[in-house]
Amino acid sequence: MSVDWPGLRTAATVAAGRAYAPYSGLRVGAAALAAGGQVVTGCNVENASYGLTLCAECGLVSALHASGAAQPGSQPGSQAQLLAISVVAGDGEPLLPCGRCRQLLLEAGGGDLLVDTADGPVELKVLLPAAFTGTDLSQRRETRGRETPSQEKP
Ligand code: THU
Repeated sequence: MSVDWPGLRTAATVAAGRAYAPYSGLRVGAAALAAGGQVVTGCNVENASYGLTLCAECGLVSALHASGAAQPGSQPGSQAQLLAISVVAGDGEPLLPCGRCRQLLLEAGGGDLLVDTADGPVELKVLLPAAFTGTDLSQRRETRGRETPSQEKP
């Protein structure tokens, strides 16, 4: 599927205009192309309790699922839900996702997710190498951690 990068950047800029960022003054908007062809967006939403701030990419990933744009029933690491994403500041220029959001985007788009930058699209695996994934969980967790409290042994 071809990516309309100018269209994604425009959608991200519109979303940035809807951001609630009275504390930092940095409006952020994100727009992504979903595997089904839909465009999903998000903006940052700040809070007086600073640590509760929601990044634009966080809102986008929530919108991906809440809107029904995500393929139903997909399992971790199976099909990428997002193919390409543009994140911009209020001036409409690309902004690289923070570390937490790179991890969020990895779950939704995998390492092949294309991320808009000032120098052109870059694969997420370049921005987040040696990432922690669901494979680490399934291979490394211990049985005890998967038991419900009532099943736990003293
Ligand atoms: N922000 C995002 O929305 N996404 C990022 O990837 C980086 C940071 C927001 C959070 C906060 O509202 C503001 O930018 C300043 O950190």
